[in-house]
Amino acid sequence: MTADLQIETRAQTAQSLPAYKPLERPELEYTPEVAREMAPYYERVKNVIPPVEWPFFAPYVKAINDLKKERNAVILAHNYMTPEVFHCVGDIVGDSLQLAREAAKTDADVIVQCGVHFMAETAKLLSPEKTVLIPDAGAGCSLAESITGEDIRKLRLQYPGIPVVTYVNTSADVKAETDICCTSSNAVQVVESLGVPEVICLPDEYLALNIARQTNVKIITYKGHCEVHERFTPQELRDYRAAHPGISIIAHPECPPEVLDEADFSGSTSGMINWVKTNRPPKVMMVTECSMSDNVAAEVPDVDFIRPCNLCPHMKKITLPKILDSLLYMKDEVVVDPQIAPRARAAVERMINLPG
Ligand code: 13P
Ligand code: SF4
Repeated sequence: MTADLQIETRAQTAQSLPAYKPLERPELEYTPEVAREMAPYYERVKNVIPPVEWPFFAPYVKAINDLKKERNAVILAHNYMTPEVFHCVGDIVGDSLQLAREAAKTDADVIVQCGVHFMAETAKLLSPEKTVLIPDAGAGCSLAESITGEDIRKLRLQYPGIPVVTYVNTSADVKAETDICCTSSNAVQVVESLGVPEVICLPDEYLALNIARQTNVKIITYKGHCEVHERFTPQELRDYRAAHPGISIIAHPECPPEVLDEADFSGSTSGMINWVKTNRPPKVMMVTECSMSDNVAAEVPDVDFIRPCNLCPHMKKITLPKILDSLLYMKDEVVVDPQIAPRARAAVERMINLPG
């Protein structure tokens, strides 16, 4: 176990959750009825999922959407989910900030978080009375694993009086030690909201350096990195630009600053999606996790996506079969230690409550 030692994730069954009735596993056959009923869903993904693969996905899509109603469940799906999850079973899709906001608002009894563990934990912090499930509790994050609450306590001794801004890609244990959270879409706003000349911004070193370029607030950084975005290099981007004249290159701010220097735009995952939908470049390269290009390509077939990308092994643990099991057996339930939950929640709520 890592930093989120104090956060229990229990693989629970319907028997240990008596409030939820056990449900029978549905047949997963691709019958003519299933084909007909699921045809509107295939329309959404036909540009990115070959017809030969659909007979495998369609019965799961039907079963999951049926079960959601029985459980009064809502599926929150991050932009890095694969297209059959993102477009066919996700009720609310978006970047980390959008998903956190929606988790606070939903009136469903059950939230199934299709994303990584820190996202599910954030949902639980904001909806403590709801059952929050993650289809694979092993879906972690290299950033969340780079720091512990104890590390922050040490930093506070080193930099007394300097506020700590923490990326949401952290465990609840870390959030509990922090002044306010941020995401890649609001980091500059959060830093400036504190009205101080200097802040500690952690754990993502590159996000912190990229924020520092957009504000006069002095930023103290930490050494965490995203294993997906740290692998892109400026030379790689220059090579693609040379090979594809006229291409637009857009990048996520978890990339190193020298990579962003080669990009035409940088923003959160939703910021990048909106940029493509608004600008409709003839050719684009999204410097981020692979599923982003697939998900946008499904909606904008007129844009040509050049796809060097890196897979996030954690996000890719969330699959249709696991989502189905999650709803059937009410697992894996995410539980936050009550000793730390109120302080962690306060840090997330301070962010959510900022205007905008
Ligand atoms: P966003 O907040 O931009 O969705 O990013 C989350 C993430 O994990 C990116 O790697
Ligand atoms: Fe974490 Fe990077 Fe994966 Fe996002 S893409 S979940 S930051 S490892």
